[in-house]
Amino acid sequence: MTVTIVGSQLGDEGKGGVVDLYGDAADVVARYQGGDNAGHTVVHDGTKYKLSLVPSGAVRGKIGILGNGCVVNPETLFDEIDTLRERGLEPDVRVAERAHVILPYHRALDGIEEAEKEDLAAGTTKRGIGPTYEDKAGRRGVRVGDLLDPDVLRERLEYVVPQKKALAEEVFDKETGEEFDIDHLYETYREYGERLADENMTVDCGTFLQERIDAGENVMLEGAQGTSLDIDHGVYPYVTSSNPTAGGATVGTGLGPTVIGDGEVIGIVKAYLSRVGTGPLPTELGGVEDQTPDYEGDVGTTADEEELATYIRDEGGEYGTVTGRPRRVGWLDMPMLRHAARANGFTGLAVNHIDVLAGLETVEVGHSYEFDGEEIFTMPPTTEQWGRCEATFKSFDGWPEVDWAAVADDGYEAIPENARTYLEYIADELDTPVYAVGVGPGRGETVIVENPYE
Ligand code: IMP
Repeated sequence: MTVTIVGSQLGDEGKGGVVDLYGDAADVVARYQGGDNAGHTVVHDGTKYKLSLVPSGAVRGKIGILGNGCVVNPETLFDEIDTLRERGLEPDVRVAERAHVILPYHRALDGIEEAEKEDLAAGTTKRGIGPTYEDKAGRRGVRVGDLLDPDVLRERLEYVVPQKKALAEEVFDKETGEEFDIDHLYETYREYGERLADENMTVDCGTFLQERIDAGENVMLEGAQGTSLDIDHGVYPYVTSSNPTAGGATVGTGLGPTVIGDGEVIGIVKAYLSRVGTGPLPTELGGVEDQTPDYEGDVGTTADEEELATYIRDEGGEYGTVTGRPRRVGWLDMPMLRHAARANGFTGLAVNHIDVLAGLETVEVGHSYEFDGEEIFTMPPTTEQWGRCEATFKSFDGWPEVDWAAVADDGYEAIPENARTYLEYIADELDTPVYAVGVGPGRGETVIVENPYE
């Protein structure tokens, strides 16, 4: 069977911890979208591994797959694999031949276009994600399978590189270097292709996964980013360029929707909200320069709210894994979660970071929005409309700081009562049961209510 893990908010919900936890029972862990924009930290035998592309399951001896919906930077891929090997691990990573390749000109153009966009900039990770998906849709991309065939690779590069070079030089008036040089790219990427072939790393993803499922194995499908960063269902244009939502799991692996639907789809919820990048955020508590729109040091919020935001940011370690940028912080946004529950069809929830909020006197939740004089309960379709929404808050009594490791051992009933009230509110509003509760950053610090593979 499959278990699909999806971020229900704006990324960084703690998906890695849940993948790690439930992934123990999986034989294969596959990513279905995104690329090296997805930072995740894995702690294994006391060592911390910071990864952005290799699925975390590969650190734990699972087969890790980058599905066809992913965009793959071979340089990052091999760097991460080599680092893991230097530390004595033997990660088994496979890459879909249908996945698209991030080339150096994609990274260069990501930076150039972000600078050009000003107010429309999404605050990207500058890993070339958007430009690579653009070329995929424009049918001028280079796929992993093309790296294995030098003639095809050469033909693709000869078509596309002059266009990219002209774009950088003539439209954006930038100087270009070897990242736009056909011969250099050909030699470098042909060698990557040789290494992929030598190490037998490429697969026909859908066929590979279906055979595993037919053999009775457990497959985990790991989404990166989150629902509100989805190119279709997120806060366009402040989104990533792929589909983190559950539908992406079928298109991005080659497994049928009925196969994914026969399994479980687990929504990962952070007990508050964090955001890397720009765009509106109705429940924002404190701002971050260059990310919060019109930020002038106060976002119109009070000094107390700024202080609270800083407290939550520091307690929750809300700094980007890939970029180190401070994240914007806000209260939980229920309209965003209702939207996510519908778009993904969650069968269960994992609510993380309730320990981060411990010790606060009250915990607020954006229960609904006031939008043009009306109360609404889900996100409106355009980001301009979302920017006009004012959150209507509901207050919950806070819960105390406790020995969370002991809570994780003792189970759900050991969670402080007020925190359980908060969790039950979320479950009721989304009509979806809570399967797991994250009570700390450590591997064992999760209360498991339900194991989807059992
Ligand atoms: P891109 O994916 O680098 O193109 O960035 C597009 C938007 O998605 C930006 O707002 C990024 O900050 C955001 N984003 C991309 N990856 C992540 C992630 O792993 N966590 C949180 N935000 C992300």
